[in-house]
Amino acid sequence: MFKSKIIGMGYSVPENIITNHDLSKIMDTSDDWIQSRSGIKERRWATDNVTTSDLAYNACKQTIENSKINPIDIDMIIVGTLSSDYFFPGVSAQLQEKLNLKNVGAFDIKAACSAFIYSISIADQFIRTGAAKTILVVGAETQTKLIEKSTEGRDVAVLFGDGAGAAILTRSDSKSEILSTHLHSDGKHLKDLWMEAPGTNKDSWIDDPINLSKFTPKMNGREVFRNAVTRFPEVINEALFANDLDIDDVKYIVPHQANYRISEAIAKKLNVKMDKVVSNIHKYGNTTAASIPIALAEAVEMKKISTGDIIILAAFGAGFTWASAAIRW
Ligand code: UT7
Repeated sequence: MFKSKIIGMGYSVPENIITNHDLSKIMDTSDDWIQSRSGIKERRWATDNVTTSDLAYNACKQTIENSKINPIDIDMIIVGTLSSDYFFPGVSAQLQEKLNLKNVGAFDIKAACSAFIYSISIADQFIRTGAAKTILVVGAETQTKLIEKSTEGRDVAVLFGDGAGAAILTRSDSKSEILSTHLHSDGKHLKDLWMEAPGTNKDSWIDDPINLSKFTPKMNGREVFRNAVTRFPEVINEALFANDLDIDDVKYIVPHQANYRISEAIAKKLNVKMDKVVSNIHKYGNTTAASIPIALAEAVEMKKISTGDIIILAAFGAGFTWASAAIRW
């Protein structure tokens, strides 16, 4: 068995900044409500001519540069997204073409907010077995194109933002490695966070007249919150236990950026200070599959992470799905 490690990261967010004040002009909400309930001050919304594959491409270009690899060495592309440019095919093949990466294997993972960790886990397995040596792993979203930007949709609309982050994983011959990944799901919560249409279920296709409400994400916020604050610490503890680590061994926890209050609850349950929990939700909101790679890439860019540091990634989201990855940098 081989081991895998992350050798470079990158990210890209749209230029278009939407503040809480901007939102209060188009729906019944306020800066005070949004900040106190979620910690979000502003987020980026992709404009009409910017797609998920565009943001992914920018993030990947930067990642390939930062990794100092020859792009020809990339064996596979895995993209976590639930807002692909088209219903099918996924973003991954578009990226293959935009990046001109010979005819490598490319596929999308639709595991919502957990999709980046799911993708890291898959990449790690391919590298461990020797089936692949170098894999481009991406989380990319323009989910705000789908949200209902009105008072009816305000509980969802104020939380989400757009962006992309990426990592290159390659075979490791040093102590740097993906130590473990743990993936979970519980499908009974399907309708607590979902977008019904377009789907092939007979109720989830085009009605006449079209029921546009089915084409926007819906969330039972309290139920998501209640489950998230249990599952995040649980899956982080699972990572610690699997690697015989103590929370004090961990330099940073990089959680999916769902809500600052959820991150605070994680810190409280794990009995750590908030400076151990990476947070950028105030400026980007919740960018679904992109939030972990963006937060991790920013931490790397700010030189907060050094070789040998233990980092735990953790996610929770629609499905429900949840996951963690323990990394020795
Ligand atoms: O990526 C993973 C997916 N998402 C999450 O992890 C989100 C998890 N859930 C949450 O973060 C929180 O549940 C929210 C931030 C979505 C909501 O916070 P809350 O404290 O659970 O508020 P609530 O849904 O209980 O709503 C409280 C009140 C309601 O009014 P009434 O019924 O008390 O009169 C809502 O109608 O706040 C109202 N409300 C708003 N008011 C102003 C809901 N959304 C808004 C809004 N602006 N945007």
